[in-house]
Amino acid sequence: MANSAELTVDGKSYSFPTLEGTEHEKAFDISSLRDQTGYVTLDRGYKNTGATKSAITFLDGEEGILQYRGYAIEDLAAKASFLEVAYLLIYGELPTKEQYAVFETAIRRHTLVNEDMRKIFDGFPVKAHPMGVLSSLVSAMSAFYSDIEGSSEEDKTDLHIIRLLAKLPTIATWSYKRSLGHPMNYPKNQLDYIPNFLNMMFSLPVEDYKIDPVVVEALNVLLILHADHEQNCSTSTVRLVGSSQANIYSSISAGISALWGPLHGGANQEVIEMLEAIRADGGDVSKYVDMAKNAKTTGFRLFGFGHRVYKNFDPRAKIIKKAADDVLSKLGVNDPVLEIAKGLEEAALHDDYFISRKLYPNVDFYSGIIYRALGIPTNMFTVMFAIGRLPGWIAQWKEMREQKEPIGRPRQIYTGATLREFTPLSKR
Ligand code: ACO
Repeated sequence: MANSAELTVDGKSYSFPTLEGTEHEKAFDISSLRDQTGYVTLDRGYKNTGATKSAITFLDGEEGILQYRGYAIEDLAAKASFLEVAYLLIYGELPTKEQYAVFETAIRRHTLVNEDMRKIFDGFPVKAHPMGVLSSLVSAMSAFYSDIEGSSEEDKTDLHIIRLLAKLPTIATWSYKRSLGHPMNYPKNQLDYIPNFLNMMFSLPVEDYKIDPVVVEALNVLLILHADHEQNCSTSTVRLVGSSQANIYSSISAGISALWGPLHGGANQEVIEMLEAIRADGGDVSKYVDMAKNAKTTGFRLFGFGHRVYKNFDPRAKIIKKAADDVLSKLGVNDPVLEIAKGLEEAALHDDYFISRKLYPNVDFYSGIIYRALGIPTNMFTVMFAIGRLPGWIAQWKEMREQKEPIGRPRQIYTGATLREFTPLSKR
């Protein structure tokens, strides 16, 4: 491979170094472009822009490959626990038994949330979307766990990481309980991570919740599949906010807000609502495929379809589709929207519009069907995604800090008015 790229601008030639990642992705290093040439690059939506070097997650959109720290997603989903994967993402290696015990025990001991944070929930309308509540409460953590301020943040990073991993499920389930008008459950630290979450979600003072290992296993797989996805919208947000040296809670709160959007993590809620709408409309999938093909006039997109990077298949969707079949049959759930989803996928995959644009089901297409079978309500789907993505956001924030990345600050091509004279208000 050439080790420089030549660029001719206004009759002058410039040379820029090239670089290659460990999985052979190639890049031009244009850090000195503006200084040398006076030009910047324009890349709306960052479709071609590598914002950083990262050693956390590798994905190949053409081949449908996803690896965390070099481990195949298929292996991790089949063999690891979510907290093992969290450790791997954050610290770079799979934990030894001893490391895992220390990590897991620390998380277990930090699940309780400051009692004053409970009062914040009273200020939200009962029908507030749990994603808005989650983002606000994570931001509020910076006030309650403010020993970050003033002291060397690096020294305390591990404690903040533990707190975030431990308390996010508690906060998430409280937002749900409040929306029902039910009492908010405290964590029970004798329970493991996922059972503890399920117990806080579903138990009532009047009725215990029986933890079903099928549900625990299904959630374990879903959380692992969502745990990181390199420089996606919410992760880039976390890194960008963190690059101003904002604390980890504020950075992750911003990531949660970015995830909420329907083109990103919010798609899992949209998918189920779309499938329900198709069902209520008589189940004719071809009508909706046609509407999506005319997205420009109808404004309708098939939620759960298409991906910025995957242009062949999304390996997570493959695992989730199979898991949906397994989980529904193990739990004895017969959900008619599963058939509608399969019909929609089948119709779209044989349609030129989707084939030519390389649009395939993404991670969110079948995940909602599993969440629903597990008893998780639709407005909590994106919250589940956030719980899964948390280790990835933390790992990326930590890497960004350790690499001492400069503040993120893109350029623009200004297209507004040129200098004009100010007219006083009395004369306008
Ligand atoms: N349904 C119908 N048409 C679509 C869809 C879709 N779901 N997705 C893309 N297209 C079409 C676009 O209209 C466009 O067509 P054109 O070339 O005729 O203009 C073409 O495919 C390319 O689409 P872009 O929006 O340019 O692709 P981009 O990479 O910017 O967007 C995205 C990717 C946002 C995921 C998009 O496919 C989408 O909106 N999908 C639906 C929402 C969704 O499922 N989001 C979850 C993504 S996964 C995640 O974040 C966890």
